Amino acid sequence: MNIVVNGNNRTVESPPLTLHVLREELDVLGPKAGCENGGCGACTVLIDGAPRRSCLTAVGSVPDAEVTTVEGLGAPESMSDVQQAFVHYCAAQCGFCTPGMIIAATAYLEGGGSADRTEISEALAGHVCRCTGYLKILDAVAAARDGNFDLSTTAESPHTTVLT
Ligand code: FES
Ligand code: FES
Repeated sequence: MNIVVNGNNRTVESPPLTLHVLREELDVLGPKAGCENGGCGACTVLIDGAPRRSCLTAVGSVPDAEVTTVEGLGAPESMSDVQQAFVHYCAAQCGFCTPGMIIAATAYLEGGGSADRTEISEALAGHVCRCTGYLKILDAVAAARDGNFDLSTTAESPHTTVLT
């Protein structure tokens, strides 16, 4: 494809990145443009069921792939277990990391992941959150593992006293 860089015609071979296709062409805004170099996890989507950094994935490298973003997991009136657990455990603050976290947690649990917090931490490694301190995220994923939470109440995190 041809582009003009600083007034110069250039031919580039790399097709657009999946993150840019989703956000800029398709207006799918769940995947966030954070570091855009693979380091923060905010752009993570499922590609054929596997979590991938959409900022590093050329769309041309995954032809005919099935891409799932956080919007594809559920809607406000029909949230997935992981989405409900994040709400219940107040596991999102500014929310910038949340779509990627939920995608990664979903892949972890659908792969048979346990409620063990060390294992959850390992599954979410590379997902950066600047707000929560991570503990409520771990609580949410652990609870989603068994679906043992009640949306009509707000959870009192066992880690709350650590965080305050
Ligand atoms: S935006 Fe893709 S890993 Fe940070
Ligand atoms: S909730 Fe703000 S970055 Fe995680």
